[in-house]
Amino acid sequence: MRSKSLSFIATALAATVVLVAALLLARAESGRFQADREAEAIATNAVIRAKIEKAMNARLHVLEALAAAIQIQPDLAQDNFERLARPLFTARRGLRNVALAPAAVVRSIYPLEGNEAAVGHDLLNDPARRDSVLKAIETKQAFLQGPVNLKQGGSGIISRAPVFITVDGTERFWGLVVVVVDYHALLEEVGLAAAALQSRASLRAVEGAGYSAPFFGDPGHFADRSAISEIDFPGGNWQLTVVPLALDDDRPTAIIAVGILLALAVAAAGFRLFDDFHQISVLADRNALLAAVIEATPDAVSVTDPALPDNPIVYCNAAFLAMTGYEREEVLGRNCRFLSGVDTKPDSIAKIRSGIDGQRPATVELLNYRKDGMVFWNQLTVFPLFLREGALSHYVGFSTDTTARKRIETQNLWLQQSLLQTQKMEALGSLAGGIAHEINTPAQFVGDNLNFLKTSFQDMCRALAAYETLTGTIEPAANDAAELRSAITQCDLEFLRAEVPGAIDQSLEGVGRIGTIVQAIKEFSHPGQKQKAPLDINRAINTTVTVATNQWKYVADVVQDLAPDLPPVPALAGEINQVLLNLIVNAAHAIEARGGSDKGTITIRSRLVDHAVEVRVSDTGTGIAADKLRRVFDPFFTTKPPGKGTGQGLAICQSIVVKAHGGRIWAESSPGEGATFVVQLPVAELEEAAA
Ligand SMILES: Cc1cc2nc3c(=O)[nH]c(=O)nc-3n(C[C@H](O)[C@H](O)[C@H](O)COP(=O)(O)O)c2cc1C
Repeated sequence: MRSKSLSFIATALAATVVLVAALLLARAESGRFQADREAEAIATNAVIRAKIEKAMNARLHVLEALAAAIQIQPDLAQDNFERLARPLFTARRGLRNVALAPAAVVRSIYPLEGNEAAVGHDLLNDPARRDSVLKAIETKQAFLQGPVNLKQGGSGIISRAPVFITVDGTERFWGLVVVVVDYHALLEEVGLAAAALQSRASLRAVEGAGYSAPFFGDPGHFADRSAISEIDFPGGNWQLTVVPLALDDDRPTAIIAVGILLALAVAAAGFRLFDDFHQISVLADRNALLAAVIEATPDAVSVTDPALPDNPIVYCNAAFLAMTGYEREEVLGRNCRFLSGVDTKPDSIAKIRSGIDGQRPATVELLNYRKDGMVFWNQLTVFPLFLREGALSHYVGFSTDTTARKRIETQNLWLQQSLLQTQKMEALGSLAGGIAHEINTPAQFVGDNLNFLKTSFQDMCRALAAYETLTGTIEPAANDAAELRSAITQCDLEFLRAEVPGAIDQSLEGVGRIGTIVQAIKEFSHPGQKQKAPLDINRAINTTVTVATNQWKYVADVVQDLAPDLPPVPALAGEINQVLLNLIVNAAHAIEARGGSDKGTITIRSRLVDHAVEVRVSDTGTGIAADKLRRVFDPFFTTKPPGKGTGQGLAICQSIVVKAHGGRIWAESSPGEGATFVVQLPVAELEEAAA
């Protein structure tokens, strides 16, 4: 609403500006037009003035010639006068006549024809002429008069010059020489007769006290004194004025009309434009709103531009940055593949790639890496955006960090599997315990029997020796003695005496070993133990090493460095045995993975460290890379080749040590130099119980 009224004000302002500009232009044009007219009038004035001066002076000079002739010949006769006047007259057009008026009475006139009426004209007795004649005599100056109506008809401008001659040393008035200029011919010659000038030029002469009424033109023209130019003649002054052309200047009106039209056009265009601006600003507001919504959405959004090389990110929202841990400038311009890493499944990447190549949506859940190296599960949908006639414009990626869900899912799966595993182990444990129990009884009586046979054989040997001695002493009589000797020889009594004790000893040792293993299996399995009981960790290590012999003996030697006098730890023996078994089997696998024919070494060390019994299982195997080291306890994470590990062993160990026993477990490794897994089990509970 506010922007609408702003638009209105701005448009009205623009239209007003256009209108004012038109008015100013019209005014300037009008002034310029007037100035042009005035300049033209001044120029015309100067031209006419020059023409009048030239025409009049040429005519008036005739007076000087006549006066000079009179000086020479005061009583110039008519015929001589005619001879003098003719060339003067014919040389100057526009003269009505020239005349001599001795004692101010016209006597000679040229041309006589047509001017006869003027001969004998007594000027002093003519009231219309008398004053000017007397003035000429008095001032001894020529006197210009007219235009006046001439006796012979028509009108003329008369100049009379007094002539004084000296007779007997005395100067006396001779009379007047007269020139009559044809007024109309003069007007014609100087151009004033032209219609274009008749209404504009005015002429007036100085008479008596001031200027006469104009003899040509309009008295009103003399109101502007600055436009008057003076023309001086012998015996008179004229004034000429030329008023500027009275032309109608319609350009200002046209300019104003155009200005009004322009202002209207500006107003119309302005309203349209501002309407458009309004629309644009509404659209811009809507865009800004949508952009803000996308920016604030809790799902990660990324947009890539396939028209640019390598389809880089051109937009990502705050959730994307929070999910990945990168700064905006670190991701813009890069392809999203920097988020995947070694443990990202190639299948997932291939699925996105195929979606992008086919311009189809693709959804995957893949393992991605944050900037700090931590992995997260990314539930990603990538889809193409088609704008402008169905052409591919951008790709959009919607991501959700599903690590928490995945962890719960994994934990559930793990719990299920570890339950199964536990059940399996328990079943195996009780089975093994049962089998051991079953083997134990025959092994015991086999051992007992062997012991019995051993002592019996010794007794038998003693008896047989006595027999031998006897058969040696009672010869040669008795056949029986010979038979006996033969039987003794046949059974190779010497050999039996030498070998049977060894065989019995070996059997006894074997039965002893069976007993040890059976005992170890019985101890190891601890089926059904639900409560923690004091555990001798060194004994548990011994037992487990024995049970696992088959796992390590082909690839490694086991060195046990066990601290004597360790306090017992409160423990579920079966579970701790399982932890130790896992660590020993893992160590054997790591050594096996190293390859080569040399046996490695598994060193098992036990110590008392800060109220905890610490067990370190070190191997000389492949070692674990730093990025994998912190993940080895993650459920389903495995560094072993496919099929070799479930990825659950260490996770179960961690759960047993940390959750079930309040202890700690961690791994230390330098790649290529083996690894050490450390378990610490607190002894505090027992100590407290004892106190
Ligand atoms: C809009 C969009 C968003 C993407 N987001 C991710 C992502 O968050 N994580 C990821 O690993 N790959 C993502 N990708 C996929 C990679 O950019 C890349 O296309 C994929 O890893 C295939 O790699 P390749 O081009 O090297 O074959 C996205 C792709 C697009 C077009």
